[in-house]
Amino acid sequence: MSNPDIYLDYQATTPLDPRVLERMMPYLTTKFGNPHSTNHSFGWEAAAGVDVARPQVAQLIGADEREIIFTSGATEANNMAIKGIAYAQYPAKNHIITAQTEHTCVLESCRALERSGFQVTYLPVDNQGLIDLNELRDSITDKTALVSIMAVNNEIGMIQDIAAIGAICRNAAVVFHTDAAQAVGKIPLDVTAMNIDLISISGHKIYGPKGIGALYVNEECPVRPLALFDGGGQERGLRSGTLSPALCVGLGSACVLAEQDMTQDAAHISMLAHRLKDKLQSALPDIQINGSEQLRYAGNLNITFDHVKADQLVKELRGIAVSAGSACSTEKVEPSHVLTALGLSKKQIDSSIRIGIGRMTTEPEIDQAARHIILTVQKIRNLM
Ligand SMILES: Cc1ncc(COP(=O)(O)O)c(C=O)c1O
Repeated sequence: MSNPDIYLDYQATTPLDPRVLERMMPYLTTKFGNPHSTNHSFGWEAAAGVDVARPQVAQLIGADEREIIFTSGATEANNMAIKGIAYAQYPAKNHIITAQTEHTCVLESCRALERSGFQVTYLPVDNQGLIDLNELRDSITDKTALVSIMAVNNEIGMIQDIAAIGAICRNAAVVFHTDAAQAVGKIPLDVTAMNIDLISISGHKIYGPKGIGALYVNEECPVRPLALFDGGGQERGLRSGTLSPALCVGLGSACVLAEQDMTQDAAHISMLAHRLKDKLQSALPDIQINGSEQLRYAGNLNITFDHVKADQLVKELRGIAVSAGSACSTEKVEPSHVLTALGLSKKQIDSSIRIGIGRMTTEPEIDQAARHIILTVQKIRNLM
């Protein structure tokens, strides 16, 4: 699809907020120094940008700036957290608990650990997408090195009870990691109140730049992840490599704006999501919203349109950018593992699309998209 007119794929990525770009610009132009060059002013001014950004990221999740490790994104942060914490305790502990609905990079990190001798429990979810907390509690053994459960799901938007999961893990003295790429900046997260040991963050899901993310690592956690990269020992030895001050500043600014605009964004996005849902539900029979009705991030609508092939619908919705799967798995032919875990049939999965609404989405865009979706679904159904 070339140059779509209406962007409704906010879980794949978000546009860069112009206020973020403005903050980044000096570090892409005049302030080009290496932030790790300690003996001249070019290095100092670049480092100063990083020093401003780090507490900004920390503040959004109630952390201390020393607990923020910059990474290239949430994929890297998830790999660092899961493999790093697992290897740090091996062989004394060799068991990981995660959920079947996690992002591919979490599942693949766990599969890599399985190939290295770890055992992994992939918790099932109910038809709302939620794990059973008793099942989590019962799965923990004295060999469990880590529990990794995402906060907001990228395909269906459901929100797990992170505070309850954190409490279970803390009571059992097991390290708790959450992939919060779709949650940070959108729902309130507090590392202390929720007993979270590690959080993965992604810049481009929160109106920041691509290629930057962070891993929060609780200073008080008794286990320190092993570093996956060898090198200059940057980021407290956990992530070697030269930092990009422009990207760090971008992530920091995106976090400041996310905190400042969280209530307003949530109200705006929820209003638009309800508007779209109501329009579709009143015009079209046989449609179903997937995932929990209540425990969900409003900006993610995953909808099954019976008797419609999702890839045909997505193709025919020219000018409206929606997704027939998560962006990172669109090249795969297998049905979505998330919708499968919810109990949807292959036919239902093949009829499901994800619509993502965000800060920059407008009411006229939603109305136009609703009209276009309704007409296209009716047309496809009439041709059957
Ligand atoms: C829940 C979740 N985790 C991790 C990632 C990977 O993030 P990044 O693109 O920053 O590597 C994504 C992106 O799709 C995601 O939605």
